Amino acid sequence: MALAETPTYQYLAHAPGRVNLLGEHVDYNGGQVLPAAIDRHVDLLFSPRTDRLMHIHARDMEQEAFFSLDTLEDRLCLDGTPLPGWALYPAGVAQALTLADLHLTGLDCSFTSDIPMGSGLSSSAAVELSFAAAWNYLAGDPFDRTRLAVLCQQAENQYVGVNCGIMDQFSIANGQEGYALLLDTGTLQFRTVPLPPDTAIVIADSGERRSLNHSGYNERRAGCEQALAILSCQLPGIRTLSDVSPAQIDSLITELPAPIGDYAKHVVYECDRVRQAVGLLEAKNAVGFGQLMLECHRSLRDLYKVSTPALDTLMELATQAPGSLGARLTGAGFGGCTVNLVREAEVEAFIRQVKTGYLAATGKEAAIFPCHASQGVRVTSIIP
Ligand code: GLA
Repeated sequence: MALAETPTYQYLAHAPGRVNLLGEHVDYNGGQVLPAAIDRHVDLLFSPRTDRLMHIHARDMEQEAFFSLDTLEDRLCLDGTPLPGWALYPAGVAQALTLADLHLTGLDCSFTSDIPMGSGLSSSAAVELSFAAAWNYLAGDPFDRTRLAVLCQQAENQYVGVNCGIMDQFSIANGQEGYALLLDTGTLQFRTVPLPPDTAIVIADSGERRSLNHSGYNERRAGCEQALAILSCQLPGIRTLSDVSPAQIDSLITELPAPIGDYAKHVVYECDRVRQAVGLLEAKNAVGFGQLMLECHRSLRDLYKVSTPALDTLMELATQAPGSLGARLTGAGFGGCTVNLVREAEVEAFIRQVKTGYLAATGKEAAIFPCHASQGVRVTSIIP
């Protein structure tokens, strides 16, 4: 099929991105996280085929991939060329669903996205969930949302090769309009948490792009596992770093070699910040919550070392801007976006000032936009 042809599709899978408000780099350490699905989406149009072939049109990139569900292990297109990087996500999801005994049909499909790629807003997890939800829908919805999230995480860990936690896939699956999710990544239990009244979430995109598999993400995770192994000798009851208290890490930090002592300290204190945040949000204390966001950024910068000069600039500019309550890098780091909590009445002035400041400091434009907490992935029939 030529790209110029516009086939008619039967269904639409609509999968949001996510922004994480607090609890960074704790989802693979058993801690609690506070993400929200956002009103930026992957839209996947699809129709089932009668065979096991996949024909995917990635509209934003004007690329297509044609591959078979019977040869996923090969990671090759039908013409023998390697699958393009973006096609690893649907192919990985197909493999994870197949291993979970879902029978898949081939798809004719086409997707587009307004989630900036590689920006810490989980554009890849949104692609994963859109395909997972599509196949689940066609099979009569045997898997619940949490199971879909876990299978997509497996796809990313095992097929794409990024050792990510569950937060992104989970929030894209289970997002709730108007709320953040408080997710316990140890048990996968969650509940909704209201956002502070009269505040807005504003995202500021540094324009720097990162790829998780080319970054230090897997290295940070391995460092945390090493720290847990060492700390377990002194604290035999712990199962994850989220079981360690700030007082315990402070007294045992000298047992841990650099840089993993700093990594573990970030994780332990970040878990504690989320515990404090829950009470503050319930008490509608936006100022207190904003302070925790600032502490989180400093810890990601100084201890976990995943910030960049551009993200630090955005965070510093935000603290001086009108209406600012809190600012921090969001997602894995190494580039991407900051998330800001801003008084609703001052959002426009905030955006104006940070944009101007960023241009003056870096010579680059930052895309800065408010976002709203939204529903998780859904599939609708678009047959008239
Ligand atoms: C990425 C990963 C998540 C999480 C964050 C950091 O978004 O996909 O699992 O680890 O980084 O909090």
